[in-house]
Order: sequence, then structure tokens, then C-alpha cells
Amino acid sequence: MADNIRFTLNDTLVEVADLSPMTTLLDWLRDHHGLRGTKEGCAEGDCGACTVVLEREGRRDAINACIVLLGQVDGQSVRTVEGLRGADGGPHPVQTAMAEADATQCGFCTPGFVMSAVAFAGSGGTAEPDAIHDALAGNLCRCTGYRPIVDAMTRIAGLTVEPPPAAPSRAQSVGFEGAFFAPRSLAEALTLRAEHPDELLLSGGTDLGLLASRARKPPEKLIHLVHVPELTAISTTSDRIAIGAATTYGDAAPTLIEAFPALRPYLSRLGSRQIRNMGTIGGNIGTASPIGDMPPVLLALEASLTLVSKRGTREIPLDEFFLDYRKTALAPDEIIQSLSMPRLWEGETFHCDKVSKRRDQDISTVAGAYRVRIRHGKIEDARLAFGGMAATPRRARAAEAALLKDGFAAAAEAIATDFKPVDDWRGSAAYRLQVAANLLRRLELRLADPQRVLEVESL
Ligand SMILES: Cc1cc2nc3c(=O)[nH]c(=O)nc-3n(C[C@H](O)[C@H](O)[C@H](O)COP(=O)(O)OP(=O)(O)OC[C@H]3O[C@@H](n4cnc5c(N)ncnc54)[C@H](O)[C@@H]3O)c2cc1C
Ligand code: FES
Ligand code: FES
Repeated sequence: MADNIRFTLNDTLVEVADLSPMTTLLDWLRDHHGLRGTKEGCAEGDCGACTVVLEREGRRDAINACIVLLGQVDGQSVRTVEGLRGADGGPHPVQTAMAEADATQCGFCTPGFVMSAVAFAGSGGTAEPDAIHDALAGNLCRCTGYRPIVDAMTRIAGLTVEPPPAAPSRAQSVGFEGAFFAPRSLAEALTLRAEHPDELLLSGGTDLGLLASRARKPPEKLIHLVHVPELTAISTTSDRIAIGAATTYGDAAPTLIEAFPALRPYLSRLGSRQIRNMGTIGGNIGTASPIGDMPPVLLALEASLTLVSKRGTREIPLDEFFLDYRKTALAPDEIIQSLSMPRLWEGETFHCDKVSKRRDQDISTVAGAYRVRIRHGKIEDARLAFGGMAATPRRARAAEAALLKDGFAAAAEAIATDFKPVDDWRGSAAYRLQVAANLLRRLELRLADPQRVLEVESL
């Protein structure tokens, strides 16, 4: 398996030889290909100055070129700001709208905003404030102010755009420089995993990409999982939902939100559109951060994981997967294939909260997720899970027991038995305990009068 990286860039097929597949797309564009319209601001996926568009399967997705490795764009189609044209060969309508709305000053952030706007318009974005906010949450501007940019977005919402041309996708597995392996089947992925148990698995790269961009120490070898169909399948039955581990947030969201509507606002605060277009749920579990947003949700929803290796397949409740700080039950030759969870039964309700310093593009200080079953006005069962409260995301078992026995006040008190959080710059231990207890009070209000609390939340 040896080949050159090939992809379409601004409608032209490019081939990259003799360069590490761990080079970031941004470095390649600017330093090796002479396209400097795409900027580097933070080099860690936060500011959006490096936004480019991935044109795939009839859609346009904004991504952060600073944390995407060249190997990841093999077989894909990428558009940068240099590749924008209007139908008459002049500026693209998005560029015209930005200019006419006075939506740029120093201009450093502008190519990134333009590309986010192109993805927004190209995916049927509407002129509603929430939709525009969501599309821009991954782009920062330090000088223009956002009002003119929002004006420009309002003008281009609903723009008719041509579907993107087909990308030069690959059917066969490939390997680049003996370092970056991109299998196309689960059998090949497992063979590679067995042969290279010490190498890292790569899904969206929104965690691992930072090794190349921020730390400048890219991984030596990677097995890239997102082209393995068995890892990206979504299946649903009347009582269960299964999501392939390498499914992006963007692709999983419709299924998850349909089953658990409380995830709509929650997922909109996970990273930005750029992050959700690349980041995967399996990566969020695999990275095993105590402040990842999906583990509390999945713990509350009683999710289990399918772990697979050449030795076979095993199911493990997520409850038993996180062993200690960033330590999991995944064996060196295993891959997370999928996660699955039951739908809500009759009488069950699910809610979740993310508390962070900023509304957008911020990691949780505390995240809480709760599945509660109520029958005849009485809470019969509860699964309460929290992130940011311990070395691993965990259920609050003392609070669960207290809730069933003595109600919400007792559950809020029991939080201090469940958790001994740490002090860090996101929040002190005392703050975290207070927040988690308050979230249970909020859950009580939500269950008592869902409409009233919804009104408060939308303020
Ligand atoms: C700007 C920015 C904002 C972010 N915001 C948030 C946020 O709000 N909330 C949040 O929770 N996270 C956030 N993240 C972190 C990150 O986006 C998530 O953790 C994401 O889900 C990681 O998925 P990935 O596919 O990109 O993982 P990758 O970077 O590809 O991999 C992450 C880890 O998981 C392992 N892994 C990947 N796939 C598998 C698999 N199938 N089996 C076993 N192991 C696997 C990898 O080996 C690696 O150790 C943010 C990151 C950035 C850069
Ligand atoms: S340079 Fe800031 S997100 Fe990439
Ligand atoms: S126009 Fe200067 S940073 Fe946005």
C-alpha cells in the first residue's frame, strides 16, 4: 500500500509526493502550494481564520485546515478562497455580500468568514439569527464587529448554488510514506491495528490534529478510520440506535436529535460547525477526556460500545469503559466500532446541560445528562451522569439513589458524596460541586414545568 496523496483543489486534481502525510493542509496550502489566502490565527481549531470547504456527497462543509492532515484529504475535494468565482467570472456572491455589507476591516479573518459563509449558503442556510450564529460560531473577528458580517450572511442565505463536482474518491485502501494508513474495510483496519498496536487511530483529527498544528510534533504513524464503512454506519430500530464510531457529529446529529431532542442545543455548543464536520463521537470516547461532552450523555442514555479486533467482537457498557484519567478498557489491538443506546421508553425523559466559560467553542467546565423515568407522578428510575467532576466522566450513583428515595434536594446534597472534583482554571472544586447540584435543581424545575424553564433558558 503505497501511493501519493491525490485530491481536488479548486477544481484541479493535485498530487502530493515526497511530503509527510502528517503535514497540515494549512501548511501545505501556504508553504508548499503558494495559496496564502487561507490564514493561520490560532493553529488549534478555534479562530476559523484557516477555514476551507470540503465538497462532498453533494454538500459543502466548513473545516479548519490548521488541524487537518494532508493524508485526511486524500480522495476529497477542497475549496479555498482562491477557488471562488461568481457565475460571470467575477467575485463570488458571498464576497460581494461581504464587501457591500462593510463586513471587513483589517481582512485577516475575512477569507475564513467567506468560506464559512460559502458552506452556509451551499447547505441551504436560512436567514434566521440562530442559523447564522451557528454557522459563524467557529470564526473570530477582532476588529469589524459581527453585525456587518451577520448582515452579509442574511443577504446570502438561500442563495442558489451549484452542487459541488464529484471528488476523486478512492475505492482501495492506501498508505502514504509507510506512516499514514487509510483502510477501506474493517478487515484491513483490524489487520493494520494488530500489526501496529502502538500507533494511533485517527478519526476526525480534531484532537490528534493539534499534535501537528499546535505542538508541532505530529504522530509518527496513524491508521485513519473514516473510510471504513462498518465504522460510519448508522442503524435504528424501534427500540435502539447504533452509531458507527467514526460518524461525525454532523452526520449523527439528525438521528440523535430526533430520538433525544434535548441534544439539539447541546450539540450546537459542541465545538463549532468546522469541528462537528470532522470530529467523531468515537474520537470523543477514545480520547477519554474527563470533560468531553458526549460521555455524560451516553452514560445517562445507558450506551454500550462494540469493540472489535481480529480476535473478535465484544460489547461493553460505557459505564465500564473509562477506568481512570485517560485510561480505558480498550485493548491495544481493538477499535471502537460503534456505540448503541436504547430509545426512551414510555414515561422517560432526557435532558442535558453544558456549563462553560463561553457559550461557543468552549470545553465544558461541568456537563450533566439525566434520563429519568416517571410513572404516576413518581420518579421510578434515574441515570444522572456528569463530566468535569472526576478523572473520568461518571454516573452520580449516590445522587441517583437519593433522588429515588428522598427527592431532588437530597440528590443535590449527595453530589458531594459522588464527586471530589479538582480545582483548575475552568472552575474550583467548590464551584463545580455547586454547579452540579444546581443542575439537578434545574432538572427538578424542568420536570415540574417544562414550558416555564424553557422560557427562562431562551433568555
Ligand atoms: C476548537 C476545538 C473545539 C472543541 N470543542 C469540543 C467540545 O465543545 N466538546 C468536546 O467534547 N470536545 C471538543 N473538542 C475535542 C474534539 O473535537 C472531540 O473530542 C472529538 O469528538 C474528537 O473526535 P475526532 O474524531 O476528531 O478524534 P481524533 O482526533 O481522530 O481522535 C481522538 C482520540 O480518539 C482515538 N480514537 C479515534 N477513533 C477511535 C476509534 N474508532 N476507536 C478507538 N479510538 C479511537 C484516537 O486514537 C485519539 O486518541 C474540540 C476540539 C477543538 C480543536
Ligand atoms: S488557525 Fe485558528 S482555527 Fe485554524
Ligand atoms: S477584519 Fe480584522 S480580524 Fe476581522
